[in-house]
Formats: sequence, C-alpha cells, structure tokens
Amino acid sequence: MPNAPLVAVDTASLYERNVGSMGLANNTLDTLRPTLEAVYQALHARVQSGELPFLRLHEDTATVTEIQNYAHRAHERQRLNDCVVLGIGGSSLGTQALVQALGAGRIRIHCCDNIDPEPIGALLNGLDLKRTLFLSVTKSGNTLETVAQTLLVRERLQRALSDEEYRQNLAVITNPTSGFARELAQQDGLTTFDVPPNVGGRFSALTPVGLVPAALAGIDIQRLMAGAAWAAAGLASPDPHANPPLAVAGLLHTLATQHGRSILFTLPYSNALATLGDWFAQLWAESLGKNGVGTTPVTAVGATAQHSLLQLWMEGPPNATIQFLEVRQHRSDITIGDHEFSDWNWLTGHSLGSILNTEKQATEQALTQAERPNLTWLLPAIEPENVAAWMVWMEAMTAYAGGLYGVDPFDQPGVEAGKRIARDLLIKGIHKD
Ligand code: PA5
Repeated sequence: MPNAPLVAVDTASLYERNVGSMGLANNTLDTLRPTLEAVYQALHARVQSGELPFLRLHEDTATVTEIQNYAHRAHERQRLNDCVVLGIGGSSLGTQALVQALGAGRIRIHCCDNIDPEPIGALLNGLDLKRTLFLSVTKSGNTLETVAQTLLVRERLQRALSDEEYRQNLAVITNPTSGFARELAQQDGLTTFDVPPNVGGRFSALTPVGLVPAALAGIDIQRLMAGAAWAAAGLASPDPHANPPLAVAGLLHTLATQHGRSILFTLPYSNALATLGDWFAQLWAESLGKNGVGTTPVTAVGATAQHSLLQLWMEGPPNATIQFLEVRQHRSDITIGDHEFSDWNWLTGHSLGSILNTEKQATEQALTQAERPNLTWLLPAIEPENVAAWMVWMEAMTAYAGGLYGVDPFDQPGVEAGKRIARDLLIKGIHKD
C-alpha cells in the first residue's frame, strides 16, 4: 500500500470557524457520531455478509485476470482500432469517466449512451467493423436503449462479417441469468462477462462493466483495483474522524437538511476529470433522490466555471455546497516563457498547471470569505489508483448518505417507471415513423 494517501479531503471550510454563520457548528462531527456509527454498522454488516459486494470488488482478482487476458487476445486477433460501448446510465458513465481520465489512447473507445440517431449513425458509418469490438453492457439485460443499439449493431455486423468475426466483435456484459442480453449471448454464442448480482448500475464501474472497456483502452486495471483496495481499507472505522466518506456524508446531509444547501456542485480542476464529475452526479442523484429527499448534483469544470457559475455561488441564493476535486500534480505541463510585456512579467515561469491550481485556491478562498461552504477532495495525481479510490469513496459516501436520508440508495424505482412507460408506448405504436 502506498504511503501517501491516494485521496485526501479538507472540510475546514464547511465549518462556522471558517465560513461564519453559514457554516456547520464546529462540533458537528462529534454530535453526529452516534448516528453515523449506526449508519456505518448497518451498511457494513451487509457488505461483510456479501449482500452488498460493491465495496469488495477488489477481492475478485480472477475476474481482473480474465479481463486482461480477453483484452490482450482481442487486440492480438482483431487488431482493434475502436471499441463501442452499447449501454446507458450506470452501464456507460463509469467507462466514460475512466477512459477520459486514464485512457491510454491504445484504441478509440466510444460510448453510445444516448439513443440519438445522429451520433450513432455517424459513428457506425465511420467504423471499420472488422476492427471494432462492440460491448453490449446492461445489468438488467432489458434496457430499451441498449437493446435497440445492440439489435442495430448485430444486424450490421451479421451483414458485413463472417459468423466467426461477428461472434468475435460483439460481446455482452450483463447479469448472470436473465434478460435479452443473456438470451442473445446464449443464442449467438457470444463472449459474456457477468455483472455481479447485487451491484447496481451506478456502483458497477469497477466490475466488468467498466473494467473490460478500460482494459481495452490500455488502462492498467490491476492498478484500478489496488486503488479500490486502498479506498476500502480507508472505510474500516465507524468513527467519522477516521473515515472521510462517512464524515462528508454526515456533513453534506446536515448542510442539506438544516442549512438549506439543496444543491451539490462538483468542480474538478482538470478537464480529464469532467466526466468523473458527471459519473458522481448520476450516482448521487439516482441513489438519493427518493421519498422527497436528496440534493441536486451539478458538475462544472474549473477554472472555466469561474467565468460562468462563480458569481452565482458568491452572491446568489445560499443554497449550494461546492465540492472541489483538485489535482496536485498534472500529468503534463507547459511553462510560460520570457516576453516583452512588462505588465505581465509576473506570469513568466508559471506553468498552466500551477495557474490552474492557484485559481482553484483563489476560488476556494473567495468562497470561504463570502461564507459559502466548500470542501476539497485532493488527488495527488490522475493515476488509476487515485481515480478508482475516489470512485469507491464516492460510492461509500453515497451509500452512507442513503442511510442518513432513510432511503434505499441501491434501487431506482423512478427510472424503472420511465423505462416501462416508454416500452408500453412503443408497443402501442405511438411515434412509429
Ligand atoms: O445506475 C443505474 O442503475 C441505472 O442508471 C442503470 O445503469 C441504467 O438505467 C441502465 O440499466 P441497465 O444497466 O440495466 O441497462
């Protein structure tokens, strides 16, 4: 286990000692401790019993090896240029986040996500199908958008390729037993990977759902799992002073329920982490928005958001908490050289990374001075271990928050209702061209 923390958090600017009357009482964590401990025990009993495997995915080393071998074989055999993920929501966002943050450019990874005909048509028309691997990713096996995308791709592949090539170029990632995707895989003899039972879509980035495309993209998935293991070890204590996601869940819940902070902005200061912010937003919204509770997650990217949203945060309604996601060491950097503009001499020698980080610090200070509660998650670098560790901590934080709100963070009845209605409308032929 590495010595430096893969993720650290600074919550000082959530408290009244820093943000005055807008902040939380300085002893909030101590006051919350019994409640947080109860929430912790209830969740971790289910994790220990195996009922909720999402915090123990790193233990499944056999699956990691199987995926690495598969990715290696696929590259050797098909000389892949592209991989297309057919899936939506939790079956796509984790992949998008991992690839944007860590993708090694080994092949192009495309996530259809939406069912919009224009980008999907353009994508399919531009691919060399022989050198493209399609992954149909659906936990339930029955999601309308994914089934539609999969049927479309199957038809194209069967028309353009031999039977053997078709079977090599379409694989399925789904639950072990039921649904269209499983039936298709069995009927057509396709390679399948199981989504472990009881790991919900938005908690599945570190299952084959995200690991297969990540491995194909050249991401070291063993390093992802090392980060997940580190994060899980950081959840060992029911004491919020020793368990950052538990503490932050309690603090955000108190800000929302007692201080009117009903919006949670996530602000990565790195373009590579923009989709990770979107991934978190889906996790938080779909897990907690139930029974009339929850907070609205919004993602923006720093420093760009300073020129769009910061004014609102500084002087608008006091209804938001800002969580920064800061990167200490950028992967590559560019330094500004000498020039003849004397008013700007002070900029010479600064790198873009150091300017970006300074702007984050300045925004944090400005918000704190304006008594706007904010916190910072710090990643020393954008490496597989750090990104996976942050994801696992966000999953744990969301699950703890579910306990505090008294909702089941692992279901999504509202989403299911929409899926059912769309299916009924299509069966009745409404909107048929
Ligand atoms: O997080 C979730 O559970 C959802 O967003 C699902 O991932 C999404 O609805 C797609 O479902 P499925 O993976 O069953 O196709």
